[in-house]
Amino acid sequence: MAKPVSPADGPIAVTGASGYIGSWIVRDCVAEGYEVRACVRDASRPEKVDHLLALNDAGLRGSVALAEGDLFKPGSYDDAFADCSAVIHAGAAVGYNRETPQQVYDGCFTEVRHVLDAATKSGAMRRFVFTSSFAAVGHPRPEGYVFTEKDWCGDNVEAYGGRWTRDRIPENRDLAYAMAKAETERMLYKAAEEDGGFDAMSILPLHVIGPLMCANHDQGWSWQNCIRYMMAGKDYKKSRGGRMLWNNVDVRDVARAHRLCAEGAVAKNGSRYILSAADRRGELFTWQLQARLRELYPAVAHVGGEEMEDGKPAQHTYDSPRSYCLLAQEELGLETYSIDETLRATVDSYFALGLLP
Ligand SMILES: NC(=O)c1ccc[n+]([C@@H]2O[C@H](COP(=O)([O-])OP(=O)(O)OC[C@H]3O[C@@H](n4cnc5c(N)ncnc54)[C@H](OP(=O)(O)O)[C@@H]3O)[C@@H](O)[C@H]2O)c1
Repeated sequence: MAKPVSPADGPIAVTGASGYIGSWIVRDCVAEGYEVRACVRDASRPEKVDHLLALNDAGLRGSVALAEGDLFKPGSYDDAFADCSAVIHAGAAVGYNRETPQQVYDGCFTEVRHVLDAATKSGAMRRFVFTSSFAAVGHPRPEGYVFTEKDWCGDNVEAYGGRWTRDRIPENRDLAYAMAKAETERMLYKAAEEDGGFDAMSILPLHVIGPLMCANHDQGWSWQNCIRYMMAGKDYKKSRGGRMLWNNVDVRDVARAHRLCAEGAVAKNGSRYILSAADRRGELFTWQLQARLRELYPAVAHVGGEEMEDGKPAQHTYDSPRSYCLLAQEELGLETYSIDETLRATVDSYFALGLLP
């Protein structure tokens, strides 16, 4: 097992540093005393980088420097990763930029290959932490089934009559995304095993919500953006009738888990950690989430949600995905925010950024 890292071992690099999760990873690492190389696509765009640069004036123990790089350009990160003891790869073309399913699938491997090549070239890297997704775990199961890190999205395929097959990738973004994340994880663990000089591990977030560090984090159709719309009185539109089980995790917990992976004495090559609700209080059907938001913000005239009839949900919601971040708590020592703290921080950040009236 490669030695865990600490701020004394040199800089830490974060890809996707301008993004919602990446920005919080940068903040957490700077707060813990790291010199962070924040890899962004375009350092000249204030709306994407000012909140990162401001961390240098926030009285935190570490510091942040921007490094430009494109995930699709080989060699882009060679300079940024030099001397870095750990690389946290949170960047991804995830579809918000209108990628096709095939582009999402192929892109994941291409991006990771470029990042991994640069990371291994640096010679100093001991830990490679990949932001995978719960999508790499979820697959057809009966209602109420509790998913764990032992599950993979390719499991139990026969339950869908072969729905999860490779030939459907070009037409199904969710499938493309899930398969890409799972197969990329496997590719990383194998590469690390063959190399012997570093360990690769993954964080698998579920529905990530929590405070936004800048307005650009309000990406259309992201979970946080859906909360914003509900607070603006609009019904939840991402699933039929607004019905969904929200298995919520705080973006700050997701970020901290990445660093804890790099620093962990228990985490090893192939370790994967689901970042989801800590217990059932964090799992809410849309109507329950709506009720919680209404209670936390009684002054807001109308909170949107799902279809209701006589004060009850109009239809049953399929009770899935159930999953708890127990392994991250046990092996990484992760402590999590409560669901109310997370919901408040999400909505308050929207108010503070002027994105909710
Ligand atoms: N949010 C969730 O609920 C969730 C759940 C599970 C997994 N994840 C995973 O978490 C990771 C981060 O997601 P997020 O929610 O933080 O998304 P996000 O806010 O859209 O961040 C994505 C980041 O990737 C960067 N990026 C995209 N294409 C790039 C390219 N060609 N070259 C360099 N950088 C590029 C973006 O840079 P620009 O700012 O320049 O576009 C941005 O910094 C992704 O891998 C995603 O699959 C997220």
